[in-house]
Amino acid sequence: MCGIVGYVGSKPAQSVLVNGLARLEYRGYDSAGIAIMGDDGIGVTRTAGRIADLVSVINSEQGSYAGSVGIGHTRWATHGAPVTKNAHPHQDCSATVAVVHNGIIENYIQLRDELIAQGHTFTSDTDTEVLAHMVERMGDQPLELVVRNIMEKAEGALAIGVVRASDPELVVAARRGSPLVIGLGEDENFLASDIPAILEHTRRIAIVGDDNVVSLRSSGIAITDLAGNPVEPIVREIEWDLESAERGGYDDFMLKEIFEQPTALRDTLAGRIDEHHRIHLPELDLTAREARAIDKVFVVACGTSYHAGLMAKYAIERWTRLPVEIDIASEFRYRDPVLDDRTMVIGMSQSGETADTLAALEYAQAQGAYVVATTNVVDSSMARVADAVLYTRAGPEIGVASTKTFVCQLVLMQLLGLYLGQIRGALDGATIELMAKSVRALPEQVEQLLEHADDIMAMARKYKDVKDVFFLGRGASFPIALEGALKLKEIAYVRAEGYPAGEMKHGPIALIEKGVLVIGVATSSHLHAKTLSNMEEVKARSATLLMVLTEGDIDGQRMADDIAWVPHAPELIAPVTAVIPLQLFAYAISKARGLDVDKPRNLAKTVTVE
Ligand code: M6R
Repeated sequence: MCGIVGYVGSKPAQSVLVNGLARLEYRGYDSAGIAIMGDDGIGVTRTAGRIADLVSVINSEQGSYAGSVGIGHTRWATHGAPVTKNAHPHQDCSATVAVVHNGIIENYIQLRDELIAQGHTFTSDTDTEVLAHMVERMGDQPLELVVRNIMEKAEGALAIGVVRASDPELVVAARRGSPLVIGLGEDENFLASDIPAILEHTRRIAIVGDDNVVSLRSSGIAITDLAGNPVEPIVREIEWDLESAERGGYDDFMLKEIFEQPTALRDTLAGRIDEHHRIHLPELDLTAREARAIDKVFVVACGTSYHAGLMAKYAIERWTRLPVEIDIASEFRYRDPVLDDRTMVIGMSQSGETADTLAALEYAQAQGAYVVATTNVVDSSMARVADAVLYTRAGPEIGVASTKTFVCQLVLMQLLGLYLGQIRGALDGATIELMAKSVRALPEQVEQLLEHADDIMAMARKYKDVKDVFFLGRGASFPIALEGALKLKEIAYVRAEGYPAGEMKHGPIALIEKGVLVIGVATSSHLHAKTLSNMEEVKARSATLLMVLTEGDIDGQRMADDIAWVPHAPELIAPVTAVIPLQLFAYAISKARGLDVDKPRNLAKTVTVE
């Protein structure tokens, strides 16, 4: 997730762009840059670091350019480390084109190879740079037509802004999937990936549709589809204040991030399942022989990432028949685990900086294990320590409670399980195809589920004074029960316990009485009937029963006091949708209690102490 801004008008573009980028810094903050159209061509200033670092470079004079047309970018790395050479804008060989981009170009390797074969020279590790060379390759053709052509060739979700030295008064932009809006002013127009960037200049916003191309001049804008047909812009007057605009109009970052889950999932899946339903994780750099040599897997993580790690255990064991151990990172290295060069150790972490997990990975590496980091932050400490990195591509997560990074960790572990099963020859094609299709369906399923978010939150508010909650699940639903309980504890300060449903009768059932709320995660699985029996046991002891059920589950419906429905999915895929009602449940209770969901007491987003 990155931020884009663009400007055409009569003001100094440099300050309009830098102010806009500062408003978008929550979208990404590992590097930033601007391109200004000047009398001597395009002036590009960019640097690793935050917008403040960009301002220092601009103030150092070599970085300052006069001009009233330009584009800018704040980056959240997906391809290539967060260093200056990978900061946007990116340019072509002759430095007559500059491009900013948000999203992922799934076929960029193929496009880059083609361009290199045609004599283009690349200077960055990004997917974005192909776009600048593609513009260059098309010579003097009208820029709108060039961008339409690029949008047809580049696969994946993306939003772009392009300037060319031969069109000094023009910015051309386009989008597919990734957000992009146009701000309409008097003799000036603006481009941004999010409204806050331009709200201080205009409240008249034109929404850009998928596969639309926009040309911006100071005199006006024109939108076309990919065939070049004119598109009538939908213009809205924005009434939000700046602060709520930064949260995309949502009350809190956590809620915004819950609603970003379909996009985060799409980005995380991009390029990892092909049209023949084969799984691709080239980052692992494993030959089939090396993959077959692995004889044990450990997963180490903390908090929410640990719950995603539990899911990895189920998926990898089921699909590869490799034994998987899961450890809380702070326990791992102190128990002297048995590791060697045939062990794969997966460290899971949103931040890539959690001290316990980092130390566990360093320990595993010292024992000769093959260390894989799964993180959301490119070039984080864990990414640097590991032998291989699998990135979730959820964009920056600001709310302390992990939401969108959790679902992305889940799908990444599903992909890893399938990939290892595929490369080791442990899985038949039909199973891989069924699972790959089911994983691919998840972003849309989550989108549909979120359409009912208000109903789920209204139901949750009935329980706002609840004091004791048990979250119960079996099999792959157990990690989801743990995660539901953690969310409720951390943002609503309610005593909540996640427990394997079948284990209740060995002790905790003594706590069940009238007034206790039990939340049963009972989506379709081979353990469904057993889970329902466990639910009967708590119901018989007067607990109130809220259940997360697969649509159409009549047996579950009969016993539940309240229900959150989730769509059909195979047992090991379903946890991704099952967690969403639980995120909304915790969120609604926290809000109903008047708490700060984004900054819960005593908690930090990243824990860098042991
Ligand atoms: O950055 P990490 O994923 O390594 O962080 C681990 C935990 O600190 C984190 O998941 C924590 O439990 C969250 N607050 C959960 O919402």
